[in-house]
Amino acid sequence: MKLAGKTVLITGGSKGIGYGIAQSCLKKGMKVMITARNEDDLDGAVSQLSKISRDIDSCLADVRSMKDQEKAVKALVDRYGSIDVVIANAGVGHFAPIEDLTAQQWNDTIDINLTGVFNTVKASLPEVIKSKGYIITIASLAGTNFFATGAAYNASKFGLVGFTQAIMLDVRRKGVKVSTIMPGSVATHFNDRTPTDADSWKIQAEDIGQIVVDLLNMPPRTLPSKVEVRPSIPK
Ligand SMILES: NC(=O)c1ccc[n+]([C@@H]2O[C@H](COP(=O)([O-])OP(=O)(O)OC[C@H]3O[C@@H](n4cnc5c(N)ncnc54)[C@H](OP(=O)(O)O)[C@@H]3O)[C@@H](O)[C@H]2O)c1
Repeated sequence: MKLAGKTVLITGGSKGIGYGIAQSCLKKGMKVMITARNEDDLDGAVSQLSKISRDIDSCLADVRSMKDQEKAVKALVDRYGSIDVVIANAGVGHFAPIEDLTAQQWNDTIDINLTGVFNTVKASLPEVIKSKGYIITIASLAGTNFFATGAAYNASKFGLVGFTQAIMLDVRRKGVKVSTIMPGSVATHFNDRTPTDADSWKIQAEDIGQIVVDLLNMPPRTLPSKVEVRPSIPK
């Protein structure tokens, strides 16, 4: 895919991995729309990202709402004309042993990390089929490795890996590529953290942006459908 001028919708683009992917796409001359729930964070991100390129816009949209995802798709098409790439990235993490895990934490995790991706994909798919584009979901190594306190998060990410692989088979003959990226520890605001120098051993958000660009640059005949990525030297 020749990247300059292509359009990309990134859910959860105000911070962390989504923001890093936005940076990488803008540096390649792509036209970017980011979404999230917090308007101040979105405005701040757009103001920073516009230093790279003016082809950046935002839409306040919660992935839990299909209407919001349809609104974001319409906003992108109104501004840029078509959608070439969708990055279903927005996600949260609630970690607790099953005795302590609340129904609200369970529902929040599944609604955002799994149903949220379904909503984004369903709302954007007609446009992505038209453009013979690319859908990338951001899962996690927690989508293949389970751990104590991970009941909700593991369930959402195992589900997301299965969802992504199944839809890849559904749409590839229509010329649409689908991949999932499964990162280990990335230095982000995940789970209300603030990245510091002590996180320099972790994958950085822009490294995931580089993987997205590499996927988009693969020859049309080749589809790396599942990408596992981890820190080279974990602490
Ligand atoms: N950090 C890691 O180590 C790591 C590892 C593997 C996978 N991941 C995955 O990477 C993805 C991004 O996480 P991150 O680490 O970049 O976290 P982050 O720094 O906390 O960023 C999360 C982004 O998602 C948005 N978001 C959260 N809930 C949303 C919703 N309901 N609707 C729309 N946007 C929403 C947030 O904005 P608002 O809160 O304003 O909505 C924010 O922009 C997640 O799916 C996570 O599971 C992270």
